[in-house]
Amino acid sequence: MTKQTVTVTDNVSGKQIDFDLLSPTMGPKAIDIRKLYKELGYFTYDPGYLATASCTSAITYLDGDKGTLMYRGYPIEQLAEQSTFLETCYLLFKGELPNAAQKQDFEQVIARHSMLHDQMQFFFRGFRRDAHPMATMVGVVGALSAFYHEDLNIQDPVQRERCAHRLIAKMPTIAAWSYRYSKGLPFMYPLNKLGYAENFLRMMFAVPTEEYEVDPLMAKALDVILILHADHEQNASTSTVRLAGSSEANPYAATAAGIASLWGPAHGGANEAVIRMLQEMVDSGKPLQYWIDRAKDKDDRFRLMGFGHRVYKNYDPRAKIIRRIADEVLARTPADNPHHKLFDLARELEQVALSDEYFIKRSLYPNVDFYSGIIFLSMGIPLQMFTVMFALARTIGWISQWDEMMGDEESRIGRPRQLYIGATQRDYVPLDQR
Ligand code: CMC
Repeated sequence: MTKQTVTVTDNVSGKQIDFDLLSPTMGPKAIDIRKLYKELGYFTYDPGYLATASCTSAITYLDGDKGTLMYRGYPIEQLAEQSTFLETCYLLFKGELPNAAQKQDFEQVIARHSMLHDQMQFFFRGFRRDAHPMATMVGVVGALSAFYHEDLNIQDPVQRERCAHRLIAKMPTIAAWSYRYSKGLPFMYPLNKLGYAENFLRMMFAVPTEEYEVDPLMAKALDVILILHADHEQNASTSTVRLAGSSEANPYAATAAGIASLWGPAHGGANEAVIRMLQEMVDSGKPLQYWIDRAKDKDDRFRLMGFGHRVYKNYDPRAKIIRRIADEVLARTPADNPHHKLFDLARELEQVALSDEYFIKRSLYPNVDFYSGIIFLSMGIPLQMFTVMFALARTIGWISQWDEMMGDEESRIGRPRQLYIGATQRDYVPLDQR
């Protein structure tokens, strides 16, 4: 294939430079601007990375205009329908679906790593009971590096894979214990014979004094939600993990950085914000149009949470699947369950917004967070745990992307440049002259 280039003419110096045009297997081509500064002495300016590919990756592909998402080439709809979360973890990390023996082996390895070091319970106990579970999670995941420091040769792919196994396996225990501690409930240990989602639900809701049966419908629904959240290419938290890891920081610390980034309401915190918004709408008794008008008002900071996405300018494919799961899960709960009211309101809001010129013009559609919170509430998972659920699912994405970066010869320490707009050089003014 002939090499494609893009020629840039610098109207200031009159120079013309050819830049290589890089072709991905899917998606827009990218101009390789690595020699730009050397050749022309310019940086590029792209706040929020709207048009910048920060790395090459073979893990996840999404097309925001079409509303498609694929892990390692497999459409998310097929994985949600036919795969399991652990199989999807294997796929994301290793690149291929496992055969039967590999699948069984992987499930056993993950089950065997699910306990936390006994000393770790004291980390939980050091937090205030009213700490947000995300705060606890950031701290405890970062603390994992203090337990496995002898096993952290990140240049060694085998040790990297072991880190991945530990993180995937321990995250449900850490997530559930963050909740249990906040409620003053005893920690429940994982039970290796249970599936990943089942185990998590049991650690969340069982008590040591009674038998606990996990509802298979809830376990299946949770498993699918975990699949849908498992990876989403170079989003804010994944880019944070890559940036933190690019300095060769250990993967537990880099994952803790990813959790911190996920916490914000513009990213993983949105599912919590959606429920708060819907509840406020119900409580206020105001018509939907009042909220729609506020969302459109540029002088009002209110936004429709769960709407809009940096990349999807079409219906988020994950939101479609989640809405179906919400239907199934809510059908299981009594008709007078208050979550029905939230779900009905969410559906109505979606209809109103999707026929409104403002939302149509800006391609604002429901995103993955719009319905996920309603499902979590129906499972008994409280509001403050929502972002923790997202972190639990996204861990495999973070660690797969980190592993890919560590094995990538082109990867360098992440070090963006800036367009300095501050004061030019000036002399220090002694205190008595200011
Ligand atoms: N409600 C009302 N207006 C909106 C909304 C919204 N939810 N989202 C975007 N807009 C408007 C925005 O005001 C702007 O209008 P204008 O062009 O007139 O200035 C236009 O749409 C483009 O928005 P933007 O802020 O430039 O888009 P962005 O790509 O920077 O932001 C976003 C994407 C997700 C942060 C934003 O849509 C948002 O804040 N949504 C609500 C929070 C949310 O649901 N976040 C979850 C994201 S999905 C989960 C994840 O991947 O983490």
